[in-house]
Amino acid sequence: MARTICTVLGTRPEIIKLAPLIPLLDAEPGVKQVLLHTGQHYSFAMDAVFFDELGLRRADVQLAVGSSSHAVQTAAILTGVEQAILTHGIELMLVLGDTNSTLGAALAAAKLGIPVVHIEAGCRSFVRTMPEEINRVVVDHCAAQLLAPNESAHKQLIQEGIAARDISVVGSTAIDAARAFSARASDRSIVADSLRQLGLFHNTPFLACTVHRAENTTTDVLPGLVRGLNRLAELHPILWPVHPRTQRLLDELRLSISPRVMLLPPLGYLDMLALLLGARALCTDSGGLQEESYALGTPVLILRNETEWSYLVDAGCATLLGNREDDIVVRGHKCLTESEHQRMRHAAQVLTKRLQDGGAAQRIMQAVRQRWLSQVRL
Ligand code: UD1
Repeated sequence: MARTICTVLGTRPEIIKLAPLIPLLDAEPGVKQVLLHTGQHYSFAMDAVFFDELGLRRADVQLAVGSSSHAVQTAAILTGVEQAILTHGIELMLVLGDTNSTLGAALAAAKLGIPVVHIEAGCRSFVRTMPEEINRVVVDHCAAQLLAPNESAHKQLIQEGIAARDISVVGSTAIDAARAFSARASDRSIVADSLRQLGLFHNTPFLACTVHRAENTTTDVLPGLVRGLNRLAELHPILWPVHPRTQRLLDELRLSISPRVMLLPPLGYLDMLALLLGARALCTDSGGLQEESYALGTPVLILRNETEWSYLVDAGCATLLGNREDDIVVRGHKCLTESEHQRMRHAAQVLTKRLQDGGAAQRIMQAVRQRWLSQVRL
């Protein structure tokens, strides 16, 4: 009889990072995959566009939880996933990353005694006030199988007392997908169109930027962060696709934006890759985009004081700028000198050679197969 495995997604990073794995699970003999969308993200630009561009099939279960406070949203995911587990006879739960969707699904499964596989396990920012840090720590500690993206995540899990036999290092599907889709992204016109609208030539060096973290989208932090970006834009113009959460606060605070900073609506996957491919550097507080940018050889200037992707900083292809005006300007200028920029690009190439990325989805499939599918019963 087929084993019923539930794969959960709900936000941009989960859709992108699970896209290479979902077809493999659909094709796996003896497996019935139930694809569950929590509906944490629901706007076309935050959700459906990624399904379209990545050629992903529609979800089997749609919870449509929508936006709310953390407690209300997570509670809706918990009860919705519990119901889906019972209705569909789910035997194994696959979750990725650190969102409220990840947390709600993992908890619902663990409480019913359904084993949880956590993809992207072991990443830590060590900042417990960050909602994602709470989510990833809790999910790691109720998972039965932990699939770490890199060696430092593996080491972290061991330090936290997780048994080595439950951990495998599988790499990162975000890196593989960014490289696989980069050829399709290279002929997008978003960069040339945006620079033209700024009155600049299509080959003007520019910075890409994104900001959406809870800790950066507050009335205390965002004004200084925007002033810092405005000043950095005197060096290179900035193309900034704006997350709805950030747009709301920009509007509310009526923050002044430099004419050299172009605000764009949230972008689909291919347009975002096109921005990363063309940019001199990416300024971001996103986790997923740090790896996507590295994958395409573009230096990453992190608008935070720490990152759960510290291996990129250690390797020299990402730098922590922080989120305060003067730090952004001073550290940003330092990274954008010709010599430092070249050094960061080179560091990305060296890391790529060392990691030999590629095949993460296949390694995840293999790990799941070995642990859960080769037995007579789950
Ligand atoms: C969530 C994740 C974060 C991830 C990010 C990717 C948590 C705790 N955080 O943060 O880890 O990096 O997704 O984008 O799960 N909104 C829309 N349309 C949508 C979705 C959201 O307009 O389709 C607006 C709503 O006003 C909402 C706000 O964006 O309140 C924030 O959305 P939410 O999912 O709560 O958090 P993100 O900041 O997107």
